[in-house]
Amino acid sequence: MTSILVTGGAGFIGSNFVHHVVTHTDFHVTVLDALTYAGNKASIESVLGERVEFVYGNICDAELVNELVANADIVVHFAAESHNDNSLNDPRPFVDTNIMGTFTLIEAARRHNTRFHHISTDEVYGDLELDDTERFTERTPYNPSSPYSSTKAGSDLLVRAWIRSFGLQATISNCSNNYGPFQHIEKFIPRQITNILSGIRPKLYGSGQNVRDWIHADDHSAAVLRIIERGVIGETYLIGADGEKSNLDVVKTILVAMGEPEDAFDLVSDRPGHDLRYAIDSSKLRAELGWKPAYNSFDDGIAATIEWYRVNRDWWEGHKNAVEEFYRKQGQ
Ligand code: NAD
Ligand code: DAU
Repeated sequence: MTSILVTGGAGFIGSNFVHHVVTHTDFHVTVLDALTYAGNKASIESVLGERVEFVYGNICDAELVNELVANADIVVHFAAESHNDNSLNDPRPFVDTNIMGTFTLIEAARRHNTRFHHISTDEVYGDLELDDTERFTERTPYNPSSPYSSTKAGSDLLVRAWIRSFGLQATISNCSNNYGPFQHIEKFIPRQITNILSGIRPKLYGSGQNVRDWIHADDHSAAVLRIIERGVIGETYLIGADGEKSNLDVVKTILVAMGEPEDAFDLVSDRPGHDLRYAIDSSKLRAELGWKPAYNSFDDGIAATIEWYRVNRDWWEGHKNAVEEFYRKQGQ
């Protein structure tokens, strides 16, 4: 049986991936997760057992990582500090986890010649003008803006160098903004949904004109699985579902879906260095590996996500005050 090590498997996308793998493969899964503020074991509790094992630990722990990588056929590396706003407040954990953690993992993978898939983000490419007709491709030069995206760019470059210099058996994917269940409520969509569920008005940074390219987390998982199964070693694949929307449009969609007036939101302070627009051209992944998204209606995906947060109040309610306090201090 194929044994897969999933770092960050108690986080948002990692936990969605673990559920996807359990449903669509017969792999044995080991999750390695440090359960930072963003990790929640409850997100994978329902699948823990013979096929899914949880190991509490840090990806910077070279001894532990070496032992786990030695026993894995494939490593899929999701673990990261992932929130731009936090990286502007305190960049240090981003350097530690995103750079040093990735370094620790690829050193172990090269030692044991283990297949490695590195999860990254479209933010490594910087941002686009609203009227730019080009989208990001695998050939777009790196130009990250924030401490978060620069540490992700650094981790991608480490993986690329390990592929070229040491023959690391690795692939890389850079995906656009994900939404769906199990996303921490610090992030844009779940923050607004849980605001409305808590009687707080949604908060839009700046003018709300910034554009993100939304994909359902389950579509991201399917793409990653496809890359593991059919991807070419050494290649980078961009993952996106042609889901460009302004933040203003997303907030209006959420408000209307939750039975509120579409203008019942507040404009708040902008994020320093706020990237204007991301847009992914995922033609390579579609043409070469035959992947396509299954979630074709953003409105339906959002409705299902709203329902998930409504039903799973226990999962998020305990963090809500602390998250809002963090934003309040920043005028957001
Ligand atoms: P998340 O913050 O929800 O989850 C991160 C997980 O990693 C948590 O479970 C956390 O406990 C764990 N973790 C953090 N530091 C660790 C460490 N040192 N050792 C072990 N575990 C640690 O993040 P996410 O949104 O699920 O993102 C997962 C990955 O996908 C990241 O690499 C991110 O850059 C990438 N990505 C995210 C998006 C998005 O829209 N969220 C889009 C593209 C790519
Ligand atoms: O593009 C992929 C990236 O998407 C991932 O690499 C990151 O890990 C992930 O967090 C996400 O980054 P963003 O910064 O785009 O996501 P966030 O949810 O923080 O914000 C989305 C947009 O919404 C952004 O333009 C900022 C804005 N925003 C955010 C919050 C939390 C608001 O207007 N109001 C808010 O309350």
